[in-house]
Amino acid sequence: MTAGAAEPGFDRALRVERALRAVRALGERLEGAFPSGCTRGLRYEPAGNQEWTPGFWSGILWLAYRHTGDGWYRAAAEALLPSFAERLGGGGPAVETHDLGFLYTLSAVAAWKTTGDAGARALALRAADLLSRRHLPGAGVFQAWGPLDDPDRRGLVIIDSAMNMPLLFWAAREGERPGLGVLAAGHLRALARHLVREDGSTGQTCRIDPVTGRAGPVRTHQGRAADSAWARGQAWALYGFALAHRHTGEDAFRDVAARVADYFVARLPRDGVAFWDLSFGEGDAQEKDTSASAIAAAGLLELGERFPPADPRRAYTETGERMLAALSAHQGSPPSADGLLLHAVYDRPRGLGVGESCLWGDYFYLEALLRTERAAPSFF
Ligand code: GLY
Repeated sequence: MTAGAAEPGFDRALRVERALRAVRALGERLEGAFPSGCTRGLRYEPAGNQEWTPGFWSGILWLAYRHTGDGWYRAAAEALLPSFAERLGGGGPAVETHDLGFLYTLSAVAAWKTTGDAGARALALRAADLLSRRHLPGAGVFQAWGPLDDPDRRGLVIIDSAMNMPLLFWAAREGERPGLGVLAAGHLRALARHLVREDGSTGQTCRIDPVTGRAGPVRTHQGRAADSAWARGQAWALYGFALAHRHTGEDAFRDVAARVADYFVARLPRDGVAFWDLSFGEGDAQEKDTSASAIAAAGLLELGERFPPADPRRAYTETGERMLAALSAHQGSPPSADGLLLHAVYDRPRGLGVGESCLWGDYFYLEALLRTERAAPSFF
């Protein structure tokens, strides 16, 4: 298992310090607005609580507060919570999404875990309840987007949703609704069955008929082809299945995470940072997606810890650390760039966010940096 050479000059404390400077500078410039999901010309633009990405900004602020104890970050994160409460009340596309997991784990759950804010806990439980209503019993999965009676999206599942299940595992324990954990585990088993291939690569989406339970063909939205492995989807699966093992103790989830991790790591080019699709290799003139590598690095840190101390598979943690070191060569620097990580890709087929920074890449880079520095657990 290799993941590029460790950067000889990798100084974690310095990287953290530079990252926190960038977060503070961005927060002060945005004056309470959210940053857009991706930069444009390396600048985040002010945005509302829209789409699937605002939780990552909230999570970045909570990570920064937990690490520094500086009340500025806490106040900034707390000031965002009312917008998450309003969002739940609004209905429609703002809540008709599996991404309630990302949105409320990194805002309300993070607030509750960090400060014990009972209002944040209640908000997170409400979000989990809304997410649970997206479950289609006949298909055994949570529909990704849209109203449940939308014929175009009925039964659509997406590999990314593996990372949204921890909200339900948390609510199952915290809200004493074990049934939510059962549904989440069933969804993950369905993802493993239909979207993780024998060789450990992943497809992105498929439809599962809620009447017959039969799965349709595997497709991709953001990858190169239906039968390739979109790097970020692979990373969502890696981390999502590792977390599923943490929450359920089911060894099959850890085994899936390990297969997915092996596939990802084996396809890294020499510099240790993934291309946007894992079907590209050394020498291909293709963009990197640093966000995929950041998620995978954070996931590998989790995965290594899922094995007992003498187990050689603990080495996944070292692989994650090497990937993190390789990523550090792509760290941005204020004032020339807002993002923590440069060279991410949002959606290559549609030409969106190519060669920019993105909030989720920044979040997982910071999470991984801080986790290795202080062994601070993930909010997921
Ligand atoms: N979950 C959406 C994405 O990774 O682009």
